[in-house]
Amino acid sequence: MRFDFSIAAALTALVGAVSGQGDFSPPSYPSPWMNGGNGWQEAYAKAQKFVSQLTLLEKINLTTGVGWEGESCVGNTGSIPRLNFRGLCLQDSPLGVRDTDVNSAFPAGLNAAATWSKQLMKLRGNAMGMEHRGKGVDMQLGPVAGPLGRTPEGGRNWEGFSPDPVLTGVAMQQTIQGIQDAGVIACAKHYIMNEQEHYRESTGTTKFAYSANVDDKTMHELYLWPFADAIRAGVGAVMCSYNQINNSYGSQNSYTLNHLLKNELDFQGVVVSDWWAQHTGVASALAGLDMTMAGDQKLASGNTYWGSNLTAAVLNGTIPQWRLDDMVVRIMSAYYKVGRDKARVPVNFNSWTLETDSYQHPEAKEDFTQVNWHVDVQGNHAALIREIGGASTVLLKNTNHALPLKKPKSIAVIGEDAHDNPGGPNSCSDRGCDIGTLAMGWGSGTANFPYLIAPVTALRAQAAGDHTKFANVSNNYDLAAVTAAVTGAEAAIVFVNANSGEDYITVDGNQGDRNNLTLWGNGDALVSYVASLNPNTIVVLHTVGAVIVEEHKNNPNVTAILWAGLPGQESGNAITDVLYGDVNPQAKTVFTWGKSREDYGVDVMYKNTADPPQLDFSEGVFIDYRHFDAAGIEPSYEFGYGLSYTSFSYSHLQVNKEFAWPYVPIKGHTKTAPTFGKIDYNFSHAEFPTGFHAVHDYVYPYLVGPVPTGLPQNWPAGSKDSNPQPLLAAGGAPGGNSGLYDVLYTVSARVTNTGSRRGTEIAQLYISLGGPSDPKIVLRGFDDLTLAPGQSGTFAYQITRRDISNWDPVTQNWVINHYPKTVHVGASSRNLPLSAALH
Ligand SMILES: *[C@@H]1O[C@H](CO)[C@@H](O)[C@H](O)[C@H]1NC(C)=O
Ligand SMILES: *[C@@H]1O[C@H](CO)[C@@H](O)[C@H](O)[C@H]1NC(C)=O
Ligand SMILES: *[C@@H]1O[C@H](CO)[C@@H](O)[C@H](O)[C@H]1NC(C)=O
Ligand SMILES: *[C@@H]1O[C@H](CO)[C@@H](O)[C@H](O)[C@H]1NC(C)=O
Ligand SMILES: *[C@@H]1O[C@H](CO)[C@@H](O)[C@H](O)[C@H]1NC(C)=O
Ligand SMILES: *[C@@H]1O[C@H](CO)[C@@H](O)[C@H](O)[C@H]1NC(C)=O
Ligand SMILES: *[C@@H]1O[C@H](CO)[C@@H](O)[C@H](O)[C@H]1NC(C)=O
Ligand SMILES: *[C@@H]1O[C@H](CO)[C@@H](O)[C@H](O)[C@H]1NC(C)=O
Repeated sequence: MRFDFSIAAALTALVGAVSGQGDFSPPSYPSPWMNGGNGWQEAYAKAQKFVSQLTLLEKINLTTGVGWEGESCVGNTGSIPRLNFRGLCLQDSPLGVRDTDVNSAFPAGLNAAATWSKQLMKLRGNAMGMEHRGKGVDMQLGPVAGPLGRTPEGGRNWEGFSPDPVLTGVAMQQTIQGIQDAGVIACAKHYIMNEQEHYRESTGTTKFAYSANVDDKTMHELYLWPFADAIRAGVGAVMCSYNQINNSYGSQNSYTLNHLLKNELDFQGVVVSDWWAQHTGVASALAGLDMTMAGDQKLASGNTYWGSNLTAAVLNGTIPQWRLDDMVVRIMSAYYKVGRDKARVPVNFNSWTLETDSYQHPEAKEDFTQVNWHVDVQGNHAALIREIGGASTVLLKNTNHALPLKKPKSIAVIGEDAHDNPGGPNSCSDRGCDIGTLAMGWGSGTANFPYLIAPVTALRAQAAGDHTKFANVSNNYDLAAVTAAVTGAEAAIVFVNANSGEDYITVDGNQGDRNNLTLWGNGDALVSYVASLNPNTIVVLHTVGAVIVEEHKNNPNVTAILWAGLPGQESGNAITDVLYGDVNPQAKTVFTWGKSREDYGVDVMYKNTADPPQLDFSEGVFIDYRHFDAAGIEPSYEFGYGLSYTSFSYSHLQVNKEFAWPYVPIKGHTKTAPTFGKIDYNFSHAEFPTGFHAVHDYVYPYLVGPVPTGLPQNWPAGSKDSNPQPLLAAGGAPGGNSGLYDVLYTVSARVTNTGSRRGTEIAQLYISLGGPSDPKIVLRGFDDLTLAPGQSGTFAYQITRRDISNWDPVTQNWVINHYPKTVHVGASSRNLPLSAALH
């Protein structure tokens, strides 16, 4: 491949691109260099030592993927053979190791959130991290805080946690700690405003990806919030998203990357692009991108924006050495921070085949050898998966003591969603279908099931033990069989679902995002039909988010409704635990159940009106319950709602003001940009070594053709400046100004189990910030309390400065305004018996 001058055009384009429509992102340069503070000191020192000995080509190798299907993992960087350092292996997904075998399929992020248990969130993260570690993965591509869940139809919401930023932030923090404690780098994604699948990339009908246009206040108070928590938790990597933000691509938006992420939030780790989300070479480097994936410009295009091109741009002085060194030192710091130097085992699987022997370079079909060792990494994770499955099942309705079941004489289990996919649980690639019971959505955020316990299997076994007469029907349309099974049964349990996923697979006309909020495959009609025949109809929902359930809620023959979400491989066992009372439900819904789609106030943009499509987030912070509260709309079930087999009461609210030093805006300057080692500027030393065999379509750091020099330079002002830079008032530490996390009040309340069973209550703390543009209430804290009948426990939460602050776009800082603030404690966002003023 000749090096030609079209590169210059491609590299000059789109620096903070302005489409002429909507908002634009202000430029922010230079890209902040790592400072190695707060928890990164030791890793930074080791990384400096390592990077200082690298040549230019070796440095470039660590920044650039080798191209699609170039090696075993979903993403692979180049290696450093001279130091016997293999390339980094990056692997999906947020719920387990993707594209391999003898791994576990964990409950989705949505379910982890629904437990409201910090301990379970962390254990899940750690178990997933251990599985990635065992397979030789360096970076697990998760967890997810983008999408946050702006619209319930958003296809990938289930990969993340909840549309509430605080619940998502806590889940991010716990999951990241769990993964990184296992010696694997976690990757918080997709940064940022990646809220729908339609138009997330240029498509047949648009040249550009959509632009999410959001104001500064909403950015800070909603979408950036959980990323701040991720960074405070020490996350090693952040993945930038496909979409544009204010008409500038996520991979080259200097404001979101340089200003918000690396400066204000003081992120010390590596920014990695989503796969082919990079659109320029020099511009993305100056805007703060540190690693490009999959490395090729497009899927298996054989060329790259970095690799050879980045080598040329450094050699001719367009990219300063300090920027390249900063990329590499960030990558290696993340590596050392989680202890990869001690935890690393060889990559022992291949994402592109489950066969033992195959090509080491599948795209090129080169090097036929052993690629899979089938290393069993499941440990005892099945027990945890089952526990999370039960703890994440929300009991929405329970009348006439329908649940728990007590050795009923007969039960009927109805619905395709209770049954196995006849082709096996992995028969649809990346789970891209809706056949059989639903236990994860579709797309790259998946893993192969080692097995999947269908509800019918577990319920049949339970029934056999109880001498319960058992009937089941898998066909949602076979009403004659349904009639025969449910008529006269002591309980009829109907399983129904609603699915979604990533846009590269369309299922039943749903291109990632859901087309509607109703049940799939005749589900609603099936529930109504069963209920018309059986007065003890129990509905189990396996859904990726809210569905419209108002009619079933109001149907007196529907005695119970449970949401089981996407529970992973132990699905059937987990729901049986809950239905029969071996597990007393603790989960609370992590999103609002509206009575209609319109009640949510926002929706996916399915048809574009401009190119790039302009998604104005004009609802601001008013998504999910914040919108329902502000608009005075009563939902079917409110955010935070969930029943138990016992009952709880709340009393004795206490608020203590704590001493805290005043909030100090950060002042001062950074150090000068450091460089590590010397770069050899002799172009001829950057060429392919003689006799080097280049794998077909593989991305290398070596020059291809002459280095362009003397071209006009029009890079953004300040982008090459290595002088000390001013710090931001709201910055100064990972996650932002450390004063934001000072404790201002301690709140406690007494929770009592007033029923007759042991149970776990999720106590929730909300705050009214009090201003005219604030939501009625916002969640700030929660805890899980397990109590025996009659027992009381203390719920306690420490309110931080951030908790009662608003973002002020004028001073560019968090401020506590003078509006009166109130704290509320209770069982859901609309059941808050305790309140007190915060003076
Ligand atoms: C460098 O970038 C240019 C412009 O995008 C591209 O045409 C060329 O193929 C790239 N070079 C390599 C070696 O990938
Ligand atoms: C987007 O534009 C709005 C309106 O000008 C501005 O408040 C906000 O800070 C911008 N955000 C980004 C990320 O560019
Ligand atoms: C860069 O990485 C590739 C792929 O691992 C490897 O073949 C090559 O030798 C590396 N180059 C250098 C200079 O280390
Ligand atoms: C009942 O469930 C079994 C699997 O446990 C399945 O093979 C069978 O087809 C189901 N029966 C009906 C009528 O759907
Ligand atoms: C909603 O979408 C699902 C999945 O495509 C489909 O099965 C269902 O019939 C749709 N609902 C309505 C009311 O059209
Ligand atoms: C409830 O079930 C009974 C049969 O037990 C039936 O007669 C009645 O119509 C059902 N009600 C509804 C609302 O489906
Ligand atoms: C660059 O390296 C080549 C090969 O090592 C050498 O012949 C040449 O003199 C060097 N050029 C400069 C300017 O040092
Ligand atoms: C250096 O090379 C890069 C591409 O590799 C090009 O974009 C840039 O314009 C070149 N700089 C000069 C001064 O020619």
